[in-house]
Amino acid sequence: MPNLTIQYMFKQLKPTYIIVSILISSIVFLVACSELEPAAPADEDILDGPLEGLTNAQSAQFLAGDIAFNDEIFTKDKGLGPVFVATSCGSCHAGDGKGTPFTTLTRFGQVDHTGNKFLHLGGPQLQNRSIPGFNPETIPTGATFSKFTPPANTGLGFIELVPDSAILALSDPNDMNGDGISGVPNWNTVPSYVDILENAISQNGKYICRLGKKASTFNLLQQTVNAYNQDIGITSTFNPIDVYSGHSIDPEVSDKTVRDVVAYLQMLKAPIQRETENVEIENGKNLFIQIKCAACHVPQLQTDFSIISALSYKTFYPYTDLLLHDMGSDLDDGYTEGSAKTYEWRTPPLWGLGLSPGSQGGKYFLMHDGRAKSIEEAIEMHGGEAAQSKNNFQQLSATDKEKLIQFLKSL
Ligand code: HEC
Ligand code: HEC
Repeated sequence: MPNLTIQYMFKQLKPTYIIVSILISSIVFLVACSELEPAAPADEDILDGPLEGLTNAQSAQFLAGDIAFNDEIFTKDKGLGPVFVATSCGSCHAGDGKGTPFTTLTRFGQVDHTGNKFLHLGGPQLQNRSIPGFNPETIPTGATFSKFTPPANTGLGFIELVPDSAILALSDPNDMNGDGISGVPNWNTVPSYVDILENAISQNGKYICRLGKKASTFNLLQQTVNAYNQDIGITSTFNPIDVYSGHSIDPEVSDKTVRDVVAYLQMLKAPIQRETENVEIENGKNLFIQIKCAACHVPQLQTDFSIISALSYKTFYPYTDLLLHDMGSDLDDGYTEGSAKTYEWRTPPLWGLGLSPGSQGGKYFLMHDGRAKSIEEAIEMHGGEAAQSKNNFQQLSATDKEKLIQFLKSL
C-alpha cells in the first residue's frame, strides 16, 4: 500500500527536516509562480480599470456592470436575436479598447433628414447574424451605408458630464473666427426614457447629442439600451421593441443590469498619458497646438456636478470638442444620423490612442471604419475643415513629424 509507505517514510524523518523541506518547496513554488504569471500591467497601460476614489457601493456596482458587460453571453434561451450582430458587449469592446474592422457595425439607408426609406428592410442597423430558423439581414440594393469600428470605451463618464454650454461655446457654425474650422453639435431627438439634465440646451425639441462616431446619442443610458436592442437583439423596459418583428415584447434584460452597465461605463477611468516628462513629447504637444490639431481635438475639458464625486467638477484631457466637422468627400459615406451630414464626423477623443494596438491585434485601425493603418495615415486622410491643419502637418520636417507622432502615442 503506497499510503503505508509514505507514513513509514515520514516516521523516519525528523520533524525539523520536514518543516525545512516544506518551507523550501513553498519558496520554490512561489518563485516559479511569479515567473509564470506576467507582472500585472501598470495602471497607465490598461483601459478597463475603475476610477480612483469610488465608494464601496460604487465599486460593487462597477463590478456588477463589468460582469454584465464582459461575461454575460446571450444565447437563444436568454433572448438573443432573432437577428443580431454579436452575443455580448465585450465581444466587440474587448478590454474596453478600440475594435477592428472585424468587429464593425454597419448602418444603412439614411441619406438626409427626411428619414430612412429602408426601415422596413432592416434599417438603420444591419443585423448580419440570426438564430436558427431566421434569416440574417443583408444591405438592400440601392442603400448607402457606413461602417463603424468600436471606439475605446474609457473615460465616458467624464465625456457625459461636459455641460452643453461648454460644447456650444466651442462650436462656431458660421466660422466667425475665420480659421476655416466651424464645428456644430449634433441636434437630435432623445427617447422619452432618458432623463434630460436641467442645464441641457434644446432647439425645436432636439438636444445636443455627443456619443458615437456621428455624435447621435445623448448619454450612456441611451447608448446601452440601443446596444442591447440593435447589437444583440435584447429588449428592455426602456426599449421593448423587438428588432426583428417590430412588436413590443417582454424585457430580456433587467433594468438593474442596464443600470449596472451604465454605471460601469461611467466609472471606467480615463486613459492616463505616459512619458509626460519627455521633452520630445512636450515639443510634440506644442506642434499639435501650433498646426491647429487642437482646434478640434481640444486638449482639456471640465465636468459638471456628479453624484459620483470622483467625476464631479473634474478637469480631464480627452482631445475632442464633441462637435461634428465636415471632413471632406473622401470620408463621406453617404449616411446620416441626427443632424450630422454624410460628410460630418464627431472629433474622436485621442486619449488612449497609443494603447489602441493593444486591442487591435498589435496594429492600428483608425478613423471611423478603421481604414487608416497608422497615425500618419489617419492624419493624411483629414480633409474638409481639417485640410489646412493636414497641410500644416505635411510642411513639418521629418523630425517634427516624429515628435508629433510620439506625443500622440503617449496619449
Ligand atoms: C457588434 C459589436 C458591438 C457590440 C456587441 C456592442 N458594441 Fe458598443 N459600439 C460598437 C460600435 C461599432 C460603436 C460605435 C457606434 C457609433 O459610433 O455609432 C459602439 C459604441 C459604443 C459606445 C459609445 C462610445 C463613444 O465613445 O461614443 C458605448 C458606450 C458602447 N458602444 C457600449 C456598448 C454596450 C453597453 C454594449 C452591450 C450592451 C455594446 N456596446 C455592444 C460595437 C459594438
Ligand atoms: C476640423 C477638425 C479636426 C482637425 C483640425 C483635426 N482633426 Fe483629427 N479628426 C477629426 C475627426 C472628425 C476625425 C474622425 C474622422 C473619421 O472617423 O472618419 C479625426 C480623426 C483623427 C485621428 C484618428 C483617431 C481615431 O481614433 O481613429 C487622429 C489620430 C487625428 N484625428 C489626429 C489629428 C491630428 C494630429 C491633427 C492635426 C494635424 C488633427 N487630427 C486635426 C477632426 C479634426
